[in-house]
This record gives sequence, structure tokens and C-alpha cells, in this order.
Amino acid sequence: MIRYKGLKIKTCNNVYIPAEDTFLLADNLIIRTGDKVLEIGTGTGLVAIYASKIAKDVVATDINPWAVKCAKDNVELNQIHNVKVRCGNLFFPLKNQKFDLILFNTPYLPTEEYEKIDDDLNAAWDGGADGRKIIDLFLENVKDHLKEDGRVQLVQSSLSNVEKTVNKLEDKGFETVITASKKLFFEEIIVITGYMKK
Ligand SMILES: C[S@@+](CC[C@H](N)C(=O)[O-])C[C@H]1O[C@@H](n2cnc3c(N)ncnc32)[C@H](O)[C@@H]1O
Repeated sequence: MIRYKGLKIKTCNNVYIPAEDTFLLADNLIIRTGDKVLEIGTGTGLVAIYASKIAKDVVATDINPWAVKCAKDNVELNQIHNVKVRCGNLFFPLKNQKFDLILFNTPYLPTEEYEKIDDDLNAAWDGGADGRKIIDLFLENVKDHLKEDGRVQLVQSSLSNVEKTVNKLEDKGFETVITASKKLFFEEIIVITGYMKK
């Protein structure tokens, strides 16, 4: 069991255990009272549950069914009533909903074929050969799910080309800010915030 700012978060088999990247995102949320929030790749649900304390409502998704079950259990454990958890790939479970804030602690590690593991947990870090497989798919579609003055916050590593993410967001009409970063042993993890320009 992990304790984070008054929350109790149980960890689960086959689900990403909250780590430095999780806390870097949770500690640096740019969230407003009344926001409608989406968290993609919720894992244990820690970030979504923390966001729900300020947001009006939160939708949390994950492609890993073990994570979906784990996040649902943590929503119940913390007696939260404004978080819905859905299973599926990126934006697929959402139909036409639009959000004020979209969050994603991405699977950002460059991963070769031989490094993959035959387990649902592989999705937690496998970013393909250049670390950008999921990041690029996410960036391609994120704008379609944001309200007019929406924000996106994603976490990635210095190993998966931060500049490319910033350029892609700016090409899509976002103003970007590096909101937080933390140096780890062999990489730096970074929270990038994109604001939709009016
Ligand atoms: C680095 S982990 C972060 C988990 C959690 N948000 C946290 O910060 O502790 C990335 C999460 O994204 C999920 N994920 C990976 N690819 C996904 C996709 N295409 N659609 C939805 N979720 C995905 C993984 O299953 C994993 O739970």
C-alpha cells in the first residue's frame, strides 16, 4: 500500500507501481476547480484519484485490464464518486467526449524486441524502438478530445526526444511549457504542458 497526500493506493500484480514519474505528474498538475479531466494510462489510478479532489469529474483509462481493475479498487478504497475507469487503447473508450485537461504518464522507454516481456505490464514502459510509438499516436489525436481552451500534460523521458514532442504540440497549435523535470540515474523525466492557443 502506498500513501500519497492523504490517499491510500494499493499496488496490484501486473500493474505499474507508482514511481518518480507518477509523483512528478501528480505534484505538478495544472488543474482548475470544475475541470473535466481525462487520464490515459491510469495504472493504479493514483493520479486520476488525486486529480478528482479538484476536478468536477475524471475519466481514467488503461489498455491493461489489470490496471483497470486496480484503479477501480482504489477509487472504491478512497470513497471517490467522480472517477470513472474504462479499458481500452488511448482515446478509443471515450467516443466524442471533450475535456479541459488530458494527462498521460506515457510508456516512454526505447524498447527493442528482445527487451519486451510477455505480460500486460509491458505496456507500462514499451515505447517501441525510439520510445515514441505511443507518444506520437497520443499527440496525433489529443487535440480532438480537448475543449477550446484545454490543456494537456504528459510525462516522458529525455531518452525519447522531448524536442520532438514540443515541436509536434506547437505544430498542432499548442503553447508548450516544461513544467517540471527530475534527473534520474540514466535519464531525465519531464512533464510537458501544452495549452491550446485561442
Ligand atoms: C508509465 S505507466 C503510468 C501508470 C500511472 N499513470 C502512473 O503514473 O503510475 C503507463 C500506463 O499507460 C498504459 N498504457 C500504455 N499504452 C496505452 C494505450 N495505448 N492506451 C491506454 N493505456 C496505455 C500502461 O498500461 C500503463 O498503465
